[in-house]
Amino acid sequence: MAAMLYPAGTTTNNRGHLEIEGCDAVELAAEYGTPAYLFAVGEMRARARAYRSAFAAHTDDFEVLFASKALPVTAAFRLFAEEGLSVDVASGGELTMALEAGYDPKRIYMHGNNKTDAELRLADRAGVGHLIIDSFDEIERCERVLENDHDVLIRVTPGIVPSTHSFIQTGQADSKFGFGLEDGSAASAVERVLASPRLNLVGLHFHIGSQIFEIEPFRLAVKALAELRGDWCRMLDLGGGLGISYETDDRPPPIENYVDLKFRAVREFFDEGVRILIEPGRSLVGTAGVTLYTVGTIKEIPGIRTYLAVDGGMSDNLRPMLYDAIYEAVVADRPDAPAERTVTVAGSHCESGDILIRDVALADPQIGDTLLIPATGAYGHSLANNYNGMPRPPVIFCEDGEARVVVRRETWDDLLARDA
Ligand SMILES: Cc1ncc(COP(=O)(O)O)c(C=O)c1O
Repeated sequence: MAAMLYPAGTTTNNRGHLEIEGCDAVELAAEYGTPAYLFAVGEMRARARAYRSAFAAHTDDFEVLFASKALPVTAAFRLFAEEGLSVDVASGGELTMALEAGYDPKRIYMHGNNKTDAELRLADRAGVGHLIIDSFDEIERCERVLENDHDVLIRVTPGIVPSTHSFIQTGQADSKFGFGLEDGSAASAVERVLASPRLNLVGLHFHIGSQIFEIEPFRLAVKALAELRGDWCRMLDLGGGLGISYETDDRPPPIENYVDLKFRAVREFFDEGVRILIEPGRSLVGTAGVTLYTVGTIKEIPGIRTYLAVDGGMSDNLRPMLYDAIYEAVVADRPDAPAERTVTVAGSHCESGDILIRDVALADPQIGDTLLIPATGAYGHSLANNYNGMPRPPVIFCEDGEARVVVRRETWDDLLARDA
């Protein structure tokens, strides 16, 4: 087992099964069924604390926001609120969950490149602390819809391209997000918002991409933003983006290095007294989560490959199909046995592309085994869908040997519940 891919403390118990925060993965699969998302609560808390203490070593004028799109689960909002994190929501739905979890509205930052009237009204009524403005149309929409004055940040695309999959690069000039720096629209947006009777400009935002290992581009993005500097700029939200290990050899930079680099960049290019915000998602929850499946069929095609099919697939983990994401896996019934049989892990959907992992070595997998895929905590549950009428899996939190279901499994009846 590769330590970086699993929550801290993951071990093999005396039954020889894989154990996550004191919970036996094979027993949980039997009790709650599969597929199921398991989360190590201690790992999520530890990562939230690592972010906060990395900042606290430099300054107390910072905010760490939980980018809730990575795991929009009410219990996760609650957990990160307890850990002192603010929150980034990107839709009325995420906002509703944050409010339900008891988030102080002042600590909610509302994103979205196409916020609707209804979403803006909801944010307005709830007293959301900050809106992140994404387009000129949105400035007008805010002025028309909002009944109260709001502090806002302007989202800027700084023209910096990090090295990551193109689908998760967001800081380049050709982007649907934010205002471009190079074409002057960011500067015009600053002028426009400063003149707005409803909107109170307090800062700038960028998010250049996700699953990033090379952190220097963040410094370049801060540098690029500095051309917009003004005495109205009291806060800078530098987005999320820190990568995690999906494969044994992945070595993402530590949280401390990422925070140090962002802190130093702001001090280098902006005045002291500018509050620094960051919005991690993946790096808070990614390696805290694993997905459990049951092996259903093993089909050997002589001379070609062996397909091992599990009871989930692209409906619970879209990432391999969306951006060729690569995962590893382990048979949770015998994690320490030698992995000597190479298989391709397929899902149960009607698409040839419904492949979770190509060519992974497993320990003599058998029908009925619990297959565990690590590092599925971010953008798994949130991208889940009902393709082929597949009910979405439960979300189970594990803490000190206790498992609790925080989102129940969808049922076949749920699939009929919206029929009109
Ligand atoms: C605006 C914004 N902030 C934060 C995040 C979180 O990014 P990550 O999960 O890479 O930390 C995203 C992800 O897409 C985002 O779009």
